[in-house]
Amino acid sequence: MTTPDPGGGLGPGAVESLVAAPPAMSPSTAGGPFDPEAVRRDFPVLHRPVNGRPLVWLDNGATTQKPRQVIEALGAFYGVANSNIHRGAHTMAREATAVFEESRAAVAAFLGAPSPAEIVFTRGTTEAINLVAQSWGRDNLGPGDEILVPALEHHSNIVPWQLIAKERGARVVPVPLLADGRIDVDAYADLLSYRTQLVAISHASNVLGTVPPLREMIALAHRHAARVLVDGAQAVAHFPVDVRELDADFYAFSGHKLFAPTGIGALYGKPELLAAMRPWQGGGNMIDSVDFGETTYAPVPHRFEAGTGHIAGAVGLLSALNWLTALDRDAVTAYEGALLSYAQRALATVPGLELVGAAPDRIAVLTFTLAGFDPATVADWLDRDGIAVRAGHHCAQPALRHFGLDSAARASLALYNTPEEVDALVSSLTSLRQQAG
Ligand code: ALA
Repeated sequence: MTTPDPGGGLGPGAVESLVAAPPAMSPSTAGGPFDPEAVRRDFPVLHRPVNGRPLVWLDNGATTQKPRQVIEALGAFYGVANSNIHRGAHTMAREATAVFEESRAAVAAFLGAPSPAEIVFTRGTTEAINLVAQSWGRDNLGPGDEILVPALEHHSNIVPWQLIAKERGARVVPVPLLADGRIDVDAYADLLSYRTQLVAISHASNVLGTVPPLREMIALAHRHAARVLVDGAQAVAHFPVDVRELDADFYAFSGHKLFAPTGIGALYGKPELLAAMRPWQGGGNMIDSVDFGETTYAPVPHRFEAGTGHIAGAVGLLSALNWLTALDRDAVTAYEGALLSYAQRALATVPGLELVGAAPDRIAVLTFTLAGFDPATVADWLDRDGIAVRAGHHCAQPALRHFGLDSAARASLALYNTPEEVDALVSSLTSLRQQAG
């Protein structure tokens, strides 16, 4: 990336340089076979030691690391381009607005959405879901209505629905899981009825890795005139998404699980749905005209973006999308699939280790228990070897309870992880088990 000259101001095209896609710097960006080592060179943090060992970052389900292009774009924005947007009558406000809206257009293209007007910036997936619950839900849910939510959902795709259901006299109905962690699609089909107003479902489970047959499930919901909100937080970094092909009514994701900063995410909504939704937060940016008699609101998507948003976050998100989409995404997905298979085989050699969930269609999330050790102890041991995993309930307590657990350890992989890092995980776990005698 070329950092604009702070002395010279931003000339034409300079805003673009904040978020320029990397040059074809490696086989991974040149359409050749995916090369994780080339990608790793873009991530400074992956080269730091932790507890005297090379960092092995296997907590990507919680957050992904950031490539230097994203880090530099943030620095460049604050260094030479910082301004509020939409309301300033000066050059820098226009430049910041341009890059903010360019980010919105990039999100639309990334999701296969027809128009940037269908993209609302949010703090992340959680805020996007709460927006739909509080706005769409308040007007479209009533006594006796049902929201179907698979039992594997993250709490952020359960609790917002419980809150609005309680207020509106509606019910949140869990869709059961099969023994291996797949969603029971037959039970789902049976649960759908004229009462179903909404299905809220993850595109990939953060704890079981399960990727449900979403197109089929959305089509089933639509046959009952129900809307479908898809939580794409764990999906978007792993495989291409096309909201039109899915026919999703709403689709939410977080930037920070997609190599972008924290505090920025997006909600896609079908235009006719967004247009009919009222604001959920009031403030600046979201109005047309304010009067003590009557206030009118801005068109979508601005109607849902009260206050000053995370402008730098949108710049970072644009940079991350440019970075990611410069890769051959099918090659990335194939690489992650092969790495998952390798990790499953390797972890099976650790005595006493049990993987949680065995859905065949899945992302590279490996949740496990180790006999004789509680998950917090496992995470602590691995941390001493520089290996970062998450332990606990993973904000998906019903999913773990399905397996009779209240806690587990989780290694969640991303495109920059390698078989050598999986070997380090297996070796550390094996040595912990040996402590048990
Ligand atoms: N939802 C994130 C995770 O699964 C925080 O870890």
